[in-house]
Amino acid sequence: MNAVPASHTIAEQPALSSALAKFLERKPRLLVNGEWVEAHGKGRIPVIDPATERRIAEIADADAQDVDRAVRAARAAFESGPWAGMLPDEREQLMWRLADLMERHAGELAELESLDNGKPIAMARLIDVPGAISHLRYMSGWASKLDGSTFNTSLRAAPGTKFHTYTVREPVGVVAQIIPWNFPLLMATLKLAPVLATGCTSVLKPAEQTSLSALRLGELIVEAGFPPGVVNILTGLGESTGAALVAHPDVDKIAFTGSTEVGKLINIAATATLKRVSLELGGKSPVIVLPDVDPRAVAAGAAQAVFFNSGQICVAGSRLFVQRRIFDQVVAGVSEVSRSIVMGPGLDEHTQMGPLVSQEQRDRVLSYLQSGRKQGATIVAGGDAPGHKGYYVNPTVIVDVKPDMKIVREEIFGPVLVAQRFDELEEVAAWANDTPYGLAASIWSNDLRAVQRLVPKIKAGTVWVNCHSMIDAGMPFGGYKQSGFGREQGRAGVEMYTELKAVCMAI
Ligand code: NAI
Ligand code: MG
Repeated sequence: MNAVPASHTIAEQPALSSALAKFLERKPRLLVNGEWVEAHGKGRIPVIDPATERRIAEIADADAQDVDRAVRAARAAFESGPWAGMLPDEREQLMWRLADLMERHAGELAELESLDNGKPIAMARLIDVPGAISHLRYMSGWASKLDGSTFNTSLRAAPGTKFHTYTVREPVGVVAQIIPWNFPLLMATLKLAPVLATGCTSVLKPAEQTSLSALRLGELIVEAGFPPGVVNILTGLGESTGAALVAHPDVDKIAFTGSTEVGKLINIAATATLKRVSLELGGKSPVIVLPDVDPRAVAAGAAQAVFFNSGQICVAGSRLFVQRRIFDQVVAGVSEVSRSIVMGPGLDEHTQMGPLVSQEQRDRVLSYLQSGRKQGATIVAGGDAPGHKGYYVNPTVIVDVKPDMKIVREEIFGPVLVAQRFDELEEVAAWANDTPYGLAASIWSNDLRAVQRLVPKIKAGTVWVNCHSMIDAGMPFGGYKQSGFGREQGRAGVEMYTELKAVCMAI
């Protein structure tokens, strides 16, 4: 099979709506203590439309002084004032109000997200915005359902003494939340939802590449009526704002989603004051196809697993393992799908795959393709950029790979699939686990016995069967191994924002 040249014609980015154009004119501001304030940090970060490479706005680069101001506001809101005294159903109602506001502005949020990140607006409408809202609504229910337990002890004291012992869950406190650029609004909302449900407070730092939807969300948070200081939003670079947040001694917990590299740095920095840390990091998730399936149907699923969001998703099914008998058919099918994908600017209604988020990300992905070629892999689809303005990379399928190649071992975070053959179930489980990551995996088969033998062998936080990237607010989500620790979403996700207090009362 030969490399197929790019044949996509890429449309121009359509004009922005007037509401969006107006939003872009806003001055760089930070949300601190319920107000939009000017940053103390003088640095400015350009906001780039990844489809046109044009500068469309700018945001502030908050410095350590801004961080300190925001943390102090979050601390004050946590310790005293209306938020600290609020009843669970009052927090729940505020969360619903915010969700309703987001729903009312759903079209605008989708447009903003698509412009800033590059993702197809159809996807932003279908996944990002409704997903964000569902996380808020789901978590709001936990506000009134957090509970402890009573238990019988075997404590012995003076004759006649009895004990009443029980546990209560209390909010962990001030949380620093640092999020990436691949699902900006969804990540912001997913992070904030358990904060709001438990009565914590947050200083949220969106990614410098995609801060606009978090800023718009901040406006809606103010409009919904959350007390000042409950949610503070600081834009800025990882090395400045992010690092200062992580180092701040009055932050109780850090919730981070991003690269494994930065996750490790954060974990080290958090040790100084033993902050609680939850990390949702990278992945190199296997897609395992057993021989009983219809190769064409599975090829569509495997393509979706890796190409969704231009491959910029932590659970991307980036390593495909297909049983030898149907390997060629599945790879041919995925390659065919990859060539049929309509690539274009996010705001174009026809676009199925947008550009990558930034020039840095495009260059990183292209350098992986280069490395794959150099190490002797064969590119059967894509393999290059379409040569159009914008940070596009053609969806790529690679075969003839070896387990030690960089493209097999490292997270690429782009539309790149490496495909390998296997013979036996035992062998594929070992190969699937041969990675420092352990975020997710999918198995494609209707052979119940084989599936159930494989599931326990896979070292990953989520295993999908005959689907991939299915994420729900009620389903715990997180990684084994170097994909992080802690589970977001579901009961585990809300409990992660609490401390468990045991009370032992002699009566
Ligand atoms: P990154 O991990 O550097 O950035 C994620 C967030 O962390 C951003 O808000 C950034 O400002 C912040 N950050 C960066 N350095 C920091 C520091 N020293 N202290 C505190 N906060 C810091 O990820 P980046 O550079 O944007 O992407 C690099 C690679 O990371 C990607 O190619 C991809 O492989 C992986 N990645 C994984 C994500 C996931 O969802 N698991 C999301 C984004 C990136
Ligand atoms: Mg980085």
